Amino acid sequence: MLKSCGKKGVVATAGTTLVCLAVLLVAAHRRAVRQGEKLHEREFPMRSLQSWESSSRTRPGDPQERGFSAYFSRLTRDKREVAKADPRAKPATETPPAENITPNDVFIAVKTTKKFHQSRLDLLVHTWISRNMQQTYIFTDGEDEELKKKIGDRAINTNCSAAHSRQALSCKMAVEYDKFVESGKKWFCHVDDDNYVNTRALVKLLSQYAHTQDIYIGKPSLDRPIEATERLGDNKMRPVNFWFATGGAGFCLSRGLALKMSPWASGGHFMNTAEKIRLPDDCTIGYIIESVLGVALIRSNLFHSHLENLQQVPKAELHKQVTLSYGMFENKRNIINIKGAFSNEEDPSRFKSVHCLLYPDTPWCPFQLAS
Ligand SMILES: *[C@@H]1O[C@H](CO)[C@@H](O)[C@H](O)[C@H]1NC(C)=O
Repeated sequence: MLKSCGKKGVVATAGTTLVCLAVLLVAAHRRAVRQGEKLHEREFPMRSLQSWESSSRTRPGDPQERGFSAYFSRLTRDKREVAKADPRAKPATETPPAENITPNDVFIAVKTTKKFHQSRLDLLVHTWISRNMQQTYIFTDGEDEELKKKIGDRAINTNCSAAHSRQALSCKMAVEYDKFVESGKKWFCHVDDDNYVNTRALVKLLSQYAHTQDIYIGKPSLDRPIEATERLGDNKMRPVNFWFATGGAGFCLSRGLALKMSPWASGGHFMNTAEKIRLPDDCTIGYIIESVLGVALIRSNLFHSHLENLQQVPKAELHKQVTLSYGMFENKRNIINIKGAFSNEEDPSRFKSVHCLLYPDTPWCPFQLAS
């Protein structure tokens, strides 16, 4: 099932974060249904994914929502296991820093598309990006003078297609990679335009490692590696298994590791590599690091995508999370559970409330707010 991750048709549909995870979701759902698991019925605002799924590969009448519920329960289970299983992903408070870094050592790449400059990017610029102007780079696919006024030349037109295709996504990732290498910064972090980045938590996390080591850190998609097929020359194929960090939750790479990836990632090579395994951009990153270079993903549950149940992010530990996200589908929302400074109507993503929690001195935050 997972082998179909890169098939045509998967790539053609619009959506925000058509990453490998979305494809795996379908696989998880299918598997859950096949195994006839007793499923906990829970309502989830996953309409866009459902319609994406049904338009691409589901037969009418499949009990889709149950599959997503199962997927979320599984993800929650994973989260606990991940927390226990990866001793390298220690909570920052327990270990002294390996290297003292500042936010300026981190290159944060935000992937977006022109269509979302107003509806998504403005919110980010208003909140977390405003505190991180010097290290945030916006990778988009069209010119926008308004955006340039706010971000300057860190708003980068990749000249990639605005289609949400596997090729267009890989094209943007390739430009992100090249710009990072050019920047000379110590860490590369990729996020999507529906992520909130808590830079303090991010810097604290990355400080646990030396940027000269081989570090790949993020949240895995599922509880097992993805199975893919590598196209070798002469029409030969080879099965490969590897973990990857889901792009929709954000992930980071050390400079040491990024430089080793150069033969497969720099210039036009990233696109070629992505073609070789026919998988989306985030899977391709995992492939280069785990399968080609033999470096293991460090699994962290501090990264969050809109494909997980965001209600389960503990309220008391919001300040420790590295990335957050939100999803809005019709009238139902998958959002962080925070009372915060603004109502759900005023702040449907909850990012403004999160921002006021983390930076109460922000001029537009209600003054009496206490964390
Ligand atoms: C996109 O095209 C413009 C105009 O040709 C060029 O100036 C710019 O450098 C290109 N961007 C990238 C990332 O190559």
